[in-house]
Amino acid sequence: MSSKPICAPNPSFNRAREVRVSQDRSYEVQISGAKISDCLDTIVQWLDDKPALVVMTPTVASLYGMDLVARLEKHGAPVSAQILPCTESSKTLAAVELVCARAAELKLERRSLLIGLGGGVCTDIVTVAASLIRRGIRHIRIPTTLIGQVDAGIGIKGAVNFNGRKSYLGCFYPPHRVLILPHLLSTLSTDHLQDGIAEIIKIALVRDAVLLAQLEALPSHMLSYELRTNSSKAAELIWRSATGMLDELEPNLYEDKQSKRAVDFGHTFSPLIEAASGYSISHGSAVAMDMALTSILAEYCGLLSVAKRDRILTLLTTNRLPVWAPELDVNLCREALHAATLHRCGELNLVLPVNDGGVHYISSAGDITDPMFAHAVAYLKTLGRASTRLKPIGTEL
Ligand SMILES: NC(=O)c1ccc[n+]([C@@H]2O[C@H](COP(=O)([O-])OP(=O)(O)OC[C@H]3O[C@@H](n4cnc5c(N)ncnc54)[C@H](O)[C@@H]3O)[C@@H](O)[C@H]2O)c1
Ligand SMILES: [Zn+2]
Repeated sequence: MSSKPICAPNPSFNRAREVRVSQDRSYEVQISGAKISDCLDTIVQWLDDKPALVVMTPTVASLYGMDLVARLEKHGAPVSAQILPCTESSKTLAAVELVCARAAELKLERRSLLIGLGGGVCTDIVTVAASLIRRGIRHIRIPTTLIGQVDAGIGIKGAVNFNGRKSYLGCFYPPHRVLILPHLLSTLSTDHLQDGIAEIIKIALVRDAVLLAQLEALPSHMLSYELRTNSSKAAELIWRSATGMLDELEPNLYEDKQSKRAVDFGHTFSPLIEAASGYSISHGSAVAMDMALTSILAEYCGLLSVAKRDRILTLLTTNRLPVWAPELDVNLCREALHAATLHRCGELNLVLPVNDGGVHYISSAGDITDPMFAHAVAYLKTLGRASTRLKPIGTEL
């Protein structure tokens, strides 16, 4: 007996219904000259009696974190601590899973919070974890590094490294609050401080001539000193840099409106430099090398005068930022252009600084030739090995 379908298929039955998706929200980033132990009332208010998990590295835990948790507990806030080794090589899904496992153990629910107290690695892991736990719980960031305070901790992105690719898995997930406390920088290592200085220089070069002048006016190493001592000048520099960064990010927070981003200055070659070094070269150092390289390319392209190019190189070297490493070679440069084109939806948009303080975008990888890379890298190599004194390039391309 043959079985007939009760209802014959109807190929002409085709319908569609559009689903509008929108989530309009905002978050506050604030800076305070106070110590973290003097911000308890503020944090307790933000927690609003909801359970919270503070995630931090062992270093930050012993310097600030365990004390903060103990004080919050005394204030009656239901907080727990999770100490996590947060290094570039442990910025993985496994670290995110650890945070999620702890959240599950503590039975955190939808209204609970994660608090990321740490550098960019820690807040990146916390942001990804917060976006996943119960499909999204709130998180507060208290960035403890300079990079965190002017960049990694203040936007809406979180990411982990995957299969050898930097920040390959991640999310756009806004924080509930961000609290910048410059006094936390007093214990930061010189190297990590310099990493953040590279990002401040980036913001100054792409959009803020006043900030650039302020940075140039500081004698050698004075910037590190100001930042270490929680001076009001340091707080102003951090705030100016952080708000400049936010002004750049805000119109395109989800990076879906524009693939041209001035804040990508210093971030085309740097990811490959970091990865090629097995992450022994820090993010800020790689950004400094990238800015040095692109400044020379900008001069080759007729966008930057030799004098302005040298001002940029001098600012970097005066602040003891590296401009060259053996990893930086022509092959890496070429590969970086391909990787950036893939990352930026098929458009290269290499950001080059220009004389008047703005930026210019190079759209075709063919506009930068291998001889240009070779000359620029060779020059940076001599500069990287020499003192901060600049030599004329004198090469014809
Ligand atoms: N999400 C974003 O938008 C974004 C933006 C820029 C960078 N990042 C990421 O940020 C990471 C770099 O972050 P980072 O430069 O802050 O480094 P980091 O997070 O690796 O922290 C550096 C080290 O400093 C220690 N430390 C932190 N604060 C300290 C303090 N106050 N005193 C003493 N020691 C302290 C930490 O224990 C850690 O070992 C990279 O992974 C990068 O990809 C993310
Ligand atoms: Zn950066």
